Amino acid sequence: MNKINLDKLFQEARKAADFAYAPYSKFRVGAALLADDGAVITGCNVENRSFGLTVCAERNAVFTAVGAGRRSFKALAVSTPDSDIPVGPCGACRQVLSEFMESGSPVIFGGSGKDKIKTTLGILYPFDSLHDLGSGEKIKEYEKEQRIKKKD
Ligand code: THU
Repeated sequence: MNKINLDKLFQEARKAADFAYAPYSKFRVGAALLADDGAVITGCNVENRSFGLTVCAERNAVFTAVGAGRRSFKALAVSTPDSDIPVGPCGACRQVLSEFMESGSPVIFGGSGKDKIKTTLGILYPFDSLHDLGSGEKIKEYEKEQRIKKKD
């Protein structure tokens, strides 16, 4: 298996942060996902004047990727250039990421400084009880059904 270049993935997240629409918080976030086929899909946070409608960079990256036919990711990078310390994905994003990423998959995040945190999704989101309840099997069945449907 090719070694994952997390620093390169982080650079993509950093570039994506420049597209952030964050006039209210002034806190730009960029996310980059490495899909199983090697594609890199990015996202940025998009805020709204109705604050609760804001969507994080990580979820925007996931939804963009799924909309482009990619459902499995082997790494995530998050860049928060407006903070001097690394800021990791929020709780809601960790839950959404757990749908499409293995718990052992690496996650890197960093702010404006040199220091970066390198961890895994499982460390950020332990006790993934929904997976343990068997949703994994249901997804496998769903994927199989969809493949059959696509052929007609
Ligand atoms: N934000 C993200 O995009 N990802 C995170 O993991 C944390 C928070 C965004 C949401 C909002 O636009 C801004 O950062 C401040 O919370």
